[in-house]
Amino acid sequence: MEKIIEENKQGTTLVLEQNSNNSKKLFIESYGCQMNFSDSEIVASILANEGYNTTQNLEEADLVLVNTCSIRDKAEQTVRKRLEKYNAVKKINPSMKVGVLGCMAERLKSQFLEEEKIVDMVVGPDAYKDLPNLLKEVGEGRDAINVILSKEETYGDIAPVRLNSNGVTAFVSITRGCDNMCTFCVVPFTRGRERSRDPQSIMQEIKELHEKGFKEVTLLGQNVDSYLWYGGGLKKDYVKATDMQKATAVDFANLLDMCATAYPKMRFRFSTSNPQDMHEEVLHIIAKHHNICKYIHLPVQSGSTRILHEMNRQHTREEYMALVDNIKRIIPDCSLSQDMITGFPTETEEDHKDTLSLMEYVRYDFGYMFAYSERPGTLAARKLEDDVPEAIKKRRLQEIVDLQQRIALEQTQRFVGQTVEVLIEKASKRSDEYWSGRNSHNTVVVFPKGTYKVGDFVNVQVTDCTSATLIGEAIGYSEMQH
Ligand code: SAH
Ligand code: F3S
Repeated sequence: MEKIIEENKQGTTLVLEQNSNNSKKLFIESYGCQMNFSDSEIVASILANEGYNTTQNLEEADLVLVNTCSIRDKAEQTVRKRLEKYNAVKKINPSMKVGVLGCMAERLKSQFLEEEKIVDMVVGPDAYKDLPNLLKEVGEGRDAINVILSKEETYGDIAPVRLNSNGVTAFVSITRGCDNMCTFCVVPFTRGRERSRDPQSIMQEIKELHEKGFKEVTLLGQNVDSYLWYGGGLKKDYVKATDMQKATAVDFANLLDMCATAYPKMRFRFSTSNPQDMHEEVLHIIAKHHNICKYIHLPVQSGSTRILHEMNRQHTREEYMALVDNIKRIIPDCSLSQDMITGFPTETEEDHKDTLSLMEYVRYDFGYMFAYSERPGTLAARKLEDDVPEAIKKRRLQEIVDLQQRIALEQTQRFVGQTVEVLIEKASKRSDEYWSGRNSHNTVVVFPKGTYKVGDFVNVQVTDCTSATLIGEAIGYSEMQH
């Protein structure tokens, strides 16, 4: 769940509870980050009011929507293949309509309609409330497009319907957009300016999840530590807020504290943290509450200060290391994970070595590593030549992946012999006799089922491990259970 792009979830079709009054069929598929999967729940909820039930059968759909990702070229190519598939089905079922949602819609805009003529509708991430109007246009035989980015839209007033849910863990989005302008990244262009969601609507959503029996909430945003509510509006306009607005503003530390205090028997996670916005106060809040998980996803992208500067990341290698020291001092044994890019323009062997040595220093529990993919329109694409040969990017990627695996194994081994608190999420993939869940540090734990059930908090005595999974024996309910 910590990973922004979960490979094993790519292309998952969403299925809602069926409403018997609805006669039309929607097939909705999602690619990319967790935010896209959450947005698809919002879209499905809007369309449920327009007479659509969801289906997993593409051939019987009246409307096919694909929520898309632009983060790397490969992500876009995957979606293009799916569009070809939809068009093949469309030949058999000509009344079927196809719409592109999300980041590719925003990036390519009318290109899909005018040049490629492969879809009927193009809808950007801030325009989902316009879907009923756009569908009317499509119904009347016209192409429909809305890719306007908003300063306010947070979909705070739409109750997302939980889809394909285990009934235990859920995602709640708290910010949209990103203002950071990392030079390699397309997100600020496709998802627009950063804005925070009203804390009242966040607390309301969590309340409803709690009432339905959910036990864990992950607060979601491109940059959650930058969360700031002062009555609405863009993060960058906070300087213009009144004294009263500033005095009553809610930041990420306040929000986390509110959540953990209001629901002491629910676990809270959050993703993603940007090092530049992670302040000490948040660390103290994490340390203070047992129910805030001791795990921080802290993308760094490179261990070289020179490359970090070229990437427009707002910190040096040393500042990042100091932050990590602070985290480990305030939250002893906190787990950390990274995102890393190899082969950013001008990256030398020396820069690459800096990345490897930073990984040795931090000792990340998990890592998500990518070869640099130039994205059109970004500052890096405009200003820097993509000059690291593909073979070198791949070789460096393999080296950091290998190192991460070695460190991850050692990190996992540190739990052997310990008792860890696990929230049971589902049956283990390897054996139906075992439950699977995660400890506070986000490591997967499996153990024989006994009399426990999904949604229980249990203490597990860890006896063994593989590189990413702890194996143990439940020894009773944990303090979170009662
Ligand atoms: N702040 C976001 C980052 C989203 S992108 C978050 O919530 O995690 C996720 C990761 O994709 C980035 O951290 C980065 O490591 C990688 N990435 C982004 N643009 C990329 C590019 N052009 N090439 C390769 N990897 C990229
Ligand atoms: Fe992208 Fe950097 Fe924002 S990676 S999502 S511009 S923090």
